[in-house]
Amino acid sequence: MTSPSQPAASPRIDPAALRLSVAPMMDWTDSHCRVFHRLLAPHARLYTEMVHANAVIHGDRERLLGMDASEHPVALQLGGSEPELLAQAARIGADWGYDEINLNCGCPSDRVQAGRFGACLMREPALVADSVAAMVAACTASGRDVPVTVKCRLGVDDDHDYDCFRAFIDIVADAGCGMFVVHARNAWLQGLSPKENREVPPLRYDWAYRLKRERPDLQVVVNGGIADAGEAAAHLNHADGAMLGRAAYHTPYLLHRLDVAWFGGEVKPRAELLRALRPYVEAQLERGVFLKHITRHLLGLFANERGGRAFRQVLSEGAHKPGADWSLVERAIAITESFATAHDSDRQPA
Ligand SMILES: Cc1cc2nc3c(=O)[nH]c(=O)nc-3n(C[C@H](O)[C@H](O)[C@H](O)COP(=O)(O)O)c2cc1C
Repeated sequence: MTSPSQPAASPRIDPAALRLSVAPMMDWTDSHCRVFHRLLAPHARLYTEMVHANAVIHGDRERLLGMDASEHPVALQLGGSEPELLAQAARIGADWGYDEINLNCGCPSDRVQAGRFGACLMREPALVADSVAAMVAACTASGRDVPVTVKCRLGVDDDHDYDCFRAFIDIVADAGCGMFVVHARNAWLQGLSPKENREVPPLRYDWAYRLKRERPDLQVVVNGGIADAGEAAAHLNHADGAMLGRAAYHTPYLLHRLDVAWFGGEVKPRAELLRALRPYVEAQLERGVFLKHITRHLLGLFANERGGRAFRQVLSEGAHKPGADWSLVERAIAITESFATAHDSDRQPA
């Protein structure tokens, strides 16, 4: 039993559900993208783009929070730094059916810094703790077991002290957060764009591993720079999971390979996986969604494959045209199949 002064703990996430996840990515991991990723990786944990708590409270909820039933398990990532607002937004997210509410403590953009949230919260552990405690209480009140988690960096600017990072984690964990996604590099708040902030500050996975060793009861997911299946698997020896961002988006078939390798099942060809998206696409077109809003997420499916460039080109050039429908996707698939057949016939003995 927790004492009245001790914040409640967030429910623990099933360890298998943490092994593989796709990072929250603004403008990329919208609902269409998540539905596609779900088809490729039935066991992956998916994250929304960051949504500010104020937008959740005052904005168009259907547009911001709407999701497809196939997306679960899916986490809503919130931005903000006012505990009461975050608590309200977390409760709304829990009531909408999200499986996890994640607080962004890693975004370095100027706009986010001006709003005093994102990565600059690494310097305000007490405020993050208050926010987490309020969010946990709100999610508990929702009556659903919705964990509250944090995605953070190692520090900001010239923070180079592991103890300082661990102190941040300890304070936030004491407030009820049991799972941390660690983007294993600092955020540099001056002089780097968000893109550079995903590339320039050096990766230090060892800090995330050490955290897991020293705080084995916490669930730690490693994120940052994971480029292939071998690298992803290596993190599982030291942490609870691997979260992939850009590699998952640009080469989504990697998600399928990882899902099969880690959870079992059969490796399916790209075309078969894509064709399973057809009912979703047709239902969306029926609702007035433009094909291009879905196909933009599919472009990397045949990356590094024969016909991959042509696949991309057919979709990019055709999807914005009036009346574009599933037949365009079939045409793009057919091109990859013709490349494969030509390749097979290359190998036939003369
Ligand atoms: C286009 C883009 C948008 C992003 N938006 C968010 C976001 O909304 N919230 C967040 O926590 N991180 C965001 N990130 C950071 C990713 O979640 C991830 O931490 C980062 O890309 C490092 O992982 P990776 O090397 O596997 O891509 C974004 C990254 C990209 C590329």
